[in-house]
Amino acid sequence: MQKFFIQTFGCQMNVYDGWRIATMLEHHGMVRTDDISDADIIILNTCAVRAKATDKVFSALGRIRRAKKPSALFGIVGCVARESGADAFRRIPDLNFVLGPQSYHKLPEILKNPDTKLLNIDLGGLEKFDELPQMERSPRVAYIPIQEGCNHCCTYCIVPYTRGREISRAYDDVIRDTIHAAKTGAIEICFLGQNVNGYKYTDDKGHTYRLSDLIRETAKIPEIMRIRFTSSYPTEMTDDLIKMFAIEPKLLPFLNMPIQSGSKNILTKMNRPYTLELYCDIINKLKTARPEIQISSDFIVGFPGETDEDFAETMRIAQKIKYINSYSFKYSPRPHTGAALMPNQVPENIKAARLAELDSYLNELQRDFNESCIDKTLSCLLEGPDKTGKHLIYRTQFMQQCIVENAESAPELANILITAANKASLRGKIIS
Ligand code: 5AD
Ligand code: SF4
Repeated sequence: MQKFFIQTFGCQMNVYDGWRIATMLEHHGMVRTDDISDADIIILNTCAVRAKATDKVFSALGRIRRAKKPSALFGIVGCVARESGADAFRRIPDLNFVLGPQSYHKLPEILKNPDTKLLNIDLGGLEKFDELPQMERSPRVAYIPIQEGCNHCCTYCIVPYTRGREISRAYDDVIRDTIHAAKTGAIEICFLGQNVNGYKYTDDKGHTYRLSDLIRETAKIPEIMRIRFTSSYPTEMTDDLIKMFAIEPKLLPFLNMPIQSGSKNILTKMNRPYTLELYCDIINKLKTARPEIQISSDFIVGFPGETDEDFAETMRIAQKIKYINSYSFKYSPRPHTGAALMPNQVPENIKAARLAELDSYLNELQRDFNESCIDKTLSCLLEGPDKTGKHLIYRTQFMQQCIVENAESAPELANILITAANKASLRGKIIS
């Protein structure tokens, strides 16, 4: 029996793509292996959002060439495939395939014609969703992509190039996938998209569906207990969607809504044309709809032209919003993006110092929030045992990790009394 090895880098959309690729190869009668030297086909499912991520892929390819069987096929799928295109074959001459994020369903072609080089980095269609086989068993948390690509064109971001312009999937297809996930084991649905709250689909009869419609319909499925979505663009947080937080208790009180910078000047250069007032207004509306809601963000420090004062404004907005669970990155110039060509690129040592300062503050905020949960009862979804098997890992409604003693009858959805907390996780006791 032929074996495949797949390694996924990057975002949740890539994790989802990785599952679909694995399912497709299993349908071709292959089995998965974790041993590169034993695999007949080796796939790196890649991320190009920062230069470091792309570099990682090429150094991994170097290691794979040395470790693989001589007859094994190897290649890349996803965003680095799209970023590099045919250039990847120049860098690694014996590479067998390079397939972009919207053409990885063509992978079986290389199995049929192993002596050719397979290159496809086309964009513009979502036919991969129709061509790929459904997963037979859904994980407890089912990630369902509802749109792909992004029209915002932030000047630092390679995603509009690698994943293309925004396309929303048909409403009926998303609901069909959601029901399938629920019937095969899902308890939580996470809708995915680069610009998830920009979801907009108009059917033949002229009826337009938004993310709020998907949430309302999904909440009717009895098996589904929790719903969330990621990642949201601030100005697409429309009133119909905000209202869902008030009326749909299954929608979790947690939202990832990246601000990227707290400086008006930098937001303009990033081509993110919203004001801090508007951003804070949206958060106030969300809090009115669901008082306990918590917000997380992504931040970029050291964007071209960022001054000490611009950075101080980022620190101030973090303090004002009191984000939990946030990510911060040093600006990384990417090909096919406007910001890479901007003057006043910030020196590496300044980027590193700003990142350290922001990270340390974000960690403090996260620890404060975690500690504020002590003595409260949170509603948690089981993820599974830890490595030792002595503990169980749960995820709270705010996406914190919560660790409890392993018990014979652990409910999949539990009310847990929080007894201790640090920056990384909570500890607690199951009470029901
Ligand atoms: N440099 C650094 N961080 C970036 N991101 C996107 N592009 C870049 C870049 N060129 C970050 C943003 C985004 C997250 C997924 O990655 O913060 O929200
Ligand atoms: Fe990239 Fe997100 Fe901006 Fe779209 S909204 S261009 S995916 S950072």
